[in-house]
Amino acid sequence: MRILILLLSFIYIVNSTNTSVPLTQCMSGKVIGTEPLTVYGSCGYGSYNGETTPGTMTATLNQIFYASARCGDCFEITGPKGSTVVRAVNFCGGNECSNDRPYFMTTPNAFSEISDEPLSTIYDAGFRRVSCPTEGPLKVRFQNDTSEYYVNVLLFNNNVGISSVSIKGANMPNAAEMNRQNNSATFSWSQAGFKIQFPATVTATSLYGDKVSVVLKSSDRLKVYEFGKNFAVPQKVVGSPATCLLAKTPTCIYNDSFSQGYDTWSSYSYKDLNVSDTTVTYNKSKASLHINLIGAGSYLSITRAGQFQTDYFKGIKFAIRASRVWNGFNVFFGQQQESCWKPSTNITTEWSEHTVLFSDMKHQHIEKAINFGNKNENDVIMWLDDISFITSPNAPNITAGASAGSEGLNPMTNQTTTTMQMTGTPYAPSEDPTVHGSHSGDEMNHESSAIKSNSTNISIIFVLLFVVLSMF
Ligand SMILES: *[C@@H]1O[C@H](CO)[C@@H](O)[C@H](O)[C@H]1NC(C)=O
Ligand SMILES: *[C@@H]1O[C@H](CO)[C@@H](O)[C@H](O)[C@H]1NC(C)=O
Ligand SMILES: *[C@@H]1O[C@H](CO)[C@@H](O)[C@H](O)[C@H]1NC(C)=O
Ligand SMILES: *[C@@H]1O[C@H](CO)[C@@H](O)[C@H](O)[C@H]1NC(C)=O
Ligand SMILES: *[C@@H]1O[C@H](CO)[C@@H](O)[C@H](O)[C@H]1NC(C)=O
Ligand SMILES: *[C@@H]1O[C@H](CO)[C@@H](O)[C@H](O)[C@H]1NC(C)=O
Ligand SMILES: *[C@@H]1O[C@H](CO)[C@@H](O)[C@H](O)[C@H]1NC(C)=O
Ligand SMILES: *[C@@H]1O[C@H](CO)[C@@H](O)[C@H](O)[C@H]1NC(C)=O
Ligand SMILES: *[C@@H]1O[C@H](CO)[C@@H](O)[C@H](O)[C@H]1NC(C)=O
Ligand SMILES: *[C@@H]1O[C@H](CO)[C@@H](O)[C@H](O)[C@H]1NC(C)=O
Ligand SMILES: *[C@@H]1O[C@H](CO)[C@@H](O)[C@H](O)[C@H]1NC(C)=O
Repeated sequence: MRILILLLSFIYIVNSTNTSVPLTQCMSGKVIGTEPLTVYGSCGYGSYNGETTPGTMTATLNQIFYASARCGDCFEITGPKGSTVVRAVNFCGGNECSNDRPYFMTTPNAFSEISDEPLSTIYDAGFRRVSCPTEGPLKVRFQNDTSEYYVNVLLFNNNVGISSVSIKGANMPNAAEMNRQNNSATFSWSQAGFKIQFPATVTATSLYGDKVSVVLKSSDRLKVYEFGKNFAVPQKVVGSPATCLLAKTPTCIYNDSFSQGYDTWSSYSYKDLNVSDTTVTYNKSKASLHINLIGAGSYLSITRAGQFQTDYFKGIKFAIRASRVWNGFNVFFGQQQESCWKPSTNITTEWSEHTVLFSDMKHQHIEKAINFGNKNENDVIMWLDDISFITSPNAPNITAGASAGSEGLNPMTNQTTTTMQMTGTPYAPSEDPTVHGSHSGDEMNHESSAIKSNSTNISIIFVLLFVVLSMF
């Protein structure tokens, strides 16, 4: 009997574990860490610590999501440090936030799980829609302006997106559609002077077609009712990895100017840095990058905000010239100047193009900066132009999954995924045996992350175990 209770409670624990099921392919977006949202977001859940709010793991989404995401939808977002799941509680539009790419403004709690730098930007975040890590049933609360003529309710604690809500009063022959208010999580119903009689049944339909209902006994302002249960969660998207990687960084780094998201603040021992030198140009370009490197160990550091995943690329290429014949130029990641790439010839006062393979340098799956250094005692002026990544033919492939598009999440660059990610094994370009030993970080092996598949299966195993045990 004791075993029975133990097993039953174990089954209960397994069932109530917070899980997130991947519901789309991985995609590419921008994520920024912000201050906590202490005021009302546009979804209407109230401040973060209120009765109806989903807590502190939340985000504000931009206009790009207007057609595809709703209040209460959850997204897994991946940064250089790892992944986390946030719930949409606010939408920003117009001039409030950038609208060129999918954009998440996350709370400090959420951001700290994906980045070590608070209030910074991750340009190449990976993201996908997931089910929310929710406990208990869907809930509904009457808003403070509700009445028998104007029923206005807030739905919260949903595990997947809500597509529609209907209401059927005791005196109504059919259920009537409730209208979503201003893209928020509130739904209202009214009908020219008609007085609804309670009890009324409210039925919510999920994005995936599942319906759940609740009977509202009376119209009490701010009273919370619980639905019988939460929505059924669909099975995870076929081929979805355990977590998304960082998305692929655009290949162009510098072409007349830096691409968005780069800076040079970590450069060391230099002067006269000019990222737009129009007096010295390469080919038909309008400007070049100019820097005077002071002595041995000096370097120009090109840093990517939110870091970058090296696995998508074979290497980088660039054009370079110097103020004199220069023996001592090198390229390296992070602080790894001792494991650098060196050209086979001296850099001269003429422009020359170079290709640097990542396999020739010590590197990790995720890097922050690529550095152009001087090992020579003497100062040298260096000009750089047309710096870009070279895409790897062995880069993670784009999966053909249709779910992202069919849910309207398609105006974005789809991120690539691999079967290797699914098993959680660290990804290493196969053409490159030397990197295996040097992949010390192994950032993407998130087997223990919050993303777990549908827990029903596990429960079934325990139920079976229980049946077998109870036979003795
Ligand atoms: C489940 O997630 C919710 C919201 O993120 C959180 O409040 C709750 O503590 C979690 N429960 C468990 C058992 O982790
Ligand atoms: C109703 O709630 C809103 C916030 O949702 C608040 O601004 C307003 O003052 C409240 N009105 C009443 C009558 O309580
Ligand atoms: C909906 O938005 C409009 C315009 O932004 C605003 O005037 C109105 O008060 C909003 N309604 C609710 C219920 O928030
Ligand atoms: C789990 O997956 C099964 C299908 O295998 C589905 O019927 C069920 O609704 C899912 N349950 C949850 C809680 O995700
Ligand atoms: C650099 O920019 C110019 C003009 O903006 C464009 O024509 C050229 O293709 C770009 N080069 C690379 C390598 O992206
Ligand atoms: C960079 O060089 C250009 C000339 O090529 C000059 O006009 C500009 O002022 C310089 N910028 C800085 C920040 O020194
Ligand atoms: C620069 O010009 C040379 C010669 O015209 C050409 O071969 C090379 O591809 C050009 N490089 C870039 C980066 O545009
Ligand atoms: C590079 O230049 C140095 C002098 O600065 C010279 O001794 C050396 O032979 C040159 N190396 C090559 C490969 O040309
Ligand atoms: C990616 O897909 C292409 C074309 O479908 C295929 O040729 C290539 O081998 C694939 N690469 C990997 C790493 O799976
Ligand atoms: C993203 O994926 C969807 C569905 O697989 C596809 O229809 C769409 O063209 C893809 N978009 C891009 C930019 O690759
Ligand atoms: C349940 O487990 C089996 C293997 O044990 C697996 O093939 C199946 O995909 C799992 N279903 C879910 C919904 O996780």
